[in-house]
Amino acid sequence: MISIRKWTYSAITIYRLNGFSGLVRAIWEKVNEYYYEIRFSIDTSGRIEIKDLNKSINSKVYAKYGILYAGSQFEWLRKAMASLPIEKKNATLLDLGSGKGRVLCYALQKGFKKVIGVEYSQELSKISVQNLEKLKEAKNIYFDWEIICDDASNYTIPSYVDVVWMFHPFTGPVLTKVLHNIKKAAEKKKLYVVFANPPKDEITSDYMALVKKIRADYPRVFLYEIV
Ligand SMILES: C[S@@+](CC[C@H](N)C(=O)[O-])C[C@H]1O[C@@H](n2cnc3c(N)ncnc32)[C@H](O)[C@@H]1O
Repeated sequence: MISIRKWTYSAITIYRLNGFSGLVRAIWEKVNEYYYEIRFSIDTSGRIEIKDLNKSINSKVYAKYGILYAGSQFEWLRKAMASLPIEKKNATLLDLGSGKGRVLCYALQKGFKKVIGVEYSQELSKISVQNLEKLKEAKNIYFDWEIICDDASNYTIPSYVDVVWMFHPFTGPVLTKVLHNIKKAAEKKKLYVVFANPPKDEITSDYMALVKKIRADYPRVFLYEIV
């Protein structure tokens, strides 16, 4: 009963803010989420505030610059994967702030050779490992994946990474350090970045150039290459 009331309230809010087409898109996204999660028995849904995630970490940096957990939408994933000008079967995708592992599961299923997730929250890292194991069981094939539970700004990006995915994971000095690390990793080879809900151009323009607007309206999803 409470859930029906909550859903009705959310639907009315979406309709008021984004109109009928926005509501249809939101319903379609939910259908995709249910379909994908039930099919692979995984759980990447929901939203968790940073203050709750930080209870077990107790980091001032995470509390100040980290962004809450919410999974990338399936519409972005589908369009982004189709826009990447690379051969996925030889490629590695790195998700910085990988949460429950939705992007990693999706990328493996779309044929990426390897995926790496870096996530500060231990709780979310554990869920992502469980999700990746469930996906492996459901598909019954070998998947190459790695989860690193740490601050993404401490992570040295391996030179073999081809695509970095970020869904508005952090801001401020954490983002600046990560952008610097990405640029360093791209010194020897081409590196693409998919940024969902990216920051202003003034922040990104020293590091990367826009290749394509995968989604031009809010929440924007842009494909960049490192320059
Ligand atoms: C909006 S969620 C994106 C989750 C996932 N990438 C996706 O697209 O489905 C952002 C994630 O970044 C993580 N995060 C925030 N600050 C971080 C940091 N400094 N290092 C690593 N992860 C961080 C949060 O815990 C959260 O799970």
